[in-house]
Amino acid sequence: MSDQKKTYPLVVAAQQARKHAQARYSHFEVGAALETKDGKVYSGCNVESSSYGLTICAERVALTKAISEGENQFTRIAIVGPNNEFCPPCGACRQLLFDYAPDLEVITSNGSETQVHPLKDLLPFAFEETKLKRS
Ligand code: THU
Repeated sequence: MSDQKKTYPLVVAAQQARKHAQARYSHFEVGAALETKDGKVYSGCNVESSSYGLTICAERVALTKAISEGENQFTRIAIVGPNNEFCPPCGACRQLLFDYAPDLEVITSNGSETQVHPLKDLLPFAFEETKLKRS
């Protein structure tokens, strides 16, 4: 993990996306920005449902937007939450991101400092598609 003062444009994109968050139940607004290998950025925000379990996280919105546009190579994702606190991705998002981008770097910011974690460090002993192969 590295901890830096450096400003990442990807964090700024996540902060922008966070403005669109629909978090009327938790009031916990999250923004994410996912960068492709070609440098394109797909953003996402959390979208909550009155049927709480249908809520989708910002990271998964960003990922599914990108995949639905034909993208399949990703380098980094930035995530920002409320209260100037680091917002690490939830377990479900770690799994889905890992399925499509195991070498992803995860960037979080508390508004003044930035942490960078390899996704692999955030999901040790991960379940992955090789486990689905029949012997
Ligand atoms: N949330 C995210 O968008 N990303 C995460 O990684 C953690 C949680 C959202 C889901 C829900 O709308 C709210 O934050 C509170 O859990």
